[in-house]
Amino acid sequence: MIGLIGAMAVEVEGLMALMTDREETQIGMDMFVSGKLCGKDAVLAVCGPGKVNAALCTQSMILHFHPEWVLNLGVAGAGEAGVSIGDMVIATAAVQHDMDTSPIGDPVGMVSKINLVEIPCDAALREKLLAAASTVEGMRVHEGIIATGDQFIHDGGVRSRINGLFHAKAVEMEGGAVAQACYMHGVPCGVLRSISDQADGHSEMDYPTFTRLAAAHSQQVVKALLSV
Ligand code: ADE
Repeated sequence: MIGLIGAMAVEVEGLMALMTDREETQIGMDMFVSGKLCGKDAVLAVCGPGKVNAALCTQSMILHFHPEWVLNLGVAGAGEAGVSIGDMVIATAAVQHDMDTSPIGDPVGMVSKINLVEIPCDAALREKLLAAASTVEGMRVHEGIIATGDQFIHDGGVRSRINGLFHAKAVEMEGGAVAQACYMHGVPCGVLRSISDQADGHSEMDYPTFTRLAAAHSQQVVKALLSV
């Protein structure tokens, strides 16, 4: 069984449509759809935006379905110049950019309890995602840090601060929480994002325009991943 989590319906609906032998399981306010996806046992969920929604959904998925790995897929804002709308970013690690206990001596972003700034993504899954993305014609792929926080970033100055602190290639609102929940349960994790906007003053316009295209890109990579 593999686990797939998107924050919004648009980020998983193409995969949802491909699921066969579907079974629905409600846990709290999360709905899990399990069945076969490209011939593989899979469970799919829409967690809702933000770190708490993502962490709760991931933990429920892990405890109920025992997936061998969990992938968080969807859209993101660019973390730096050179990462463009439509590009894919595959996380080497995820950070929580709004976690900050630095006034009492910790590094910015350190997540207490697991005591990590960079929450690792599984190297073997990352290699498979890279191979899958390379089969999609014309797709530009970046590997690096994905930064998560409970804010939609729409200011170039805020984006620069996050990039300066963490060298983030993309900013979004769930990957770091999915990665933390997976880390705490010893489950391999991946974060795969396609860029919908530049996380700057153009984002209010770009996000609604490009989200569907970007969401389709990350689902295309997952289909390629599962079809081998
Ligand atoms: N998801 C897509 N674009 C984003 C942005 N600019 N900030 C946070 N999450 C996003």
